[in-house]
Amino acid sequence: MAWLVWHLRVRSLRQHFEIVLSERGRIARELHDTLLQGFSGITMGMQAISSGLPASQGQTRLNELISDAAQCMREARQSIAGLRSVKVGHTELQTAIAETARQITKTKDIQLKLKLERGASQLPANVEAHLLRIAQEAIVNSTKHADATTIEVGLSFAEKSICLTVQDDGKGLTNTEALTSTGHYGLTGMRERASQIGAEFELLTGPVKGTTIRVLVPTS
Ligand SMILES: Nc1ncnc2c1ncn2[C@@H]1O[C@H](COP(=O)(O)OP(=O)(O)OP(=O)(O)O)[C@@H](O)[C@H]1O
Ligand SMILES: [Mg+2]
Repeated sequence: MAWLVWHLRVRSLRQHFEIVLSERGRIARELHDTLLQGFSGITMGMQAISSGLPASQGQTRLNELISDAAQCMREARQSIAGLRSVKVGHTELQTAIAETARQITKTKDIQLKLKLERGASQLPANVEAHLLRIAQEAIVNSTKHADATTIEVGLSFAEKSICLTVQDDGKGLTNTEALTSTGHYGLTGMRERASQIGAEFELLTGPVKGTTIRVLVPTS
């Protein structure tokens, strides 16, 4: 009887795992065939335009955009690789956050402050991957919506937790309806990523103090 129960349980887990894997494969294919292909076509078009332009400020700017697009495509390919395999590839989290933050803010008139501590031990790869994507979306939001002059990104290690913060001194979230309306997926995605790693997600905002995203990951 016990053997039968165990056998049925294993079979049901295996079926569930196969469904999850096939859905991840489908998402990876969709991402590849829609966004990535489209992006690659646009980049080739921009390269053709750039090669026909005389050396000028416009051409330099266009080349910068082409190199940003190449970086986005590399990251999208890494995400697709992560969806397709059970393992998640990674670089050191602090370096990855710093590079991403610089990349996003480099053409903006925004001061970037990085306070990224190094922990004693390595975090699991999926925790690092989720923290990086949360930081990325929060920084993009601060540059896109906040009219901020400063963005501070922090990573700190306490005895039983790790804390990621992205703080801007912008206008704060005034349009709370935007949080629930369709067509805005960044905040929802950040919450979902935090919950997947058992972390607390906080959004602190106000017109005077700007917006702070805080993610507290328990390490026990
Ligand atoms: N740091 C911020 N400062 C001011 N407003 C913000 C900030 N972050 C988010 N918002 C507001 O919250 C809304 C929802 O953000 P969310 O990231 O979910 O969507 P989005 O950035 O509009 O679109 P996307 O799906 O591309 O992320 C934004 O449209 C903006 O109005
Ligand atoms: Mg967003």
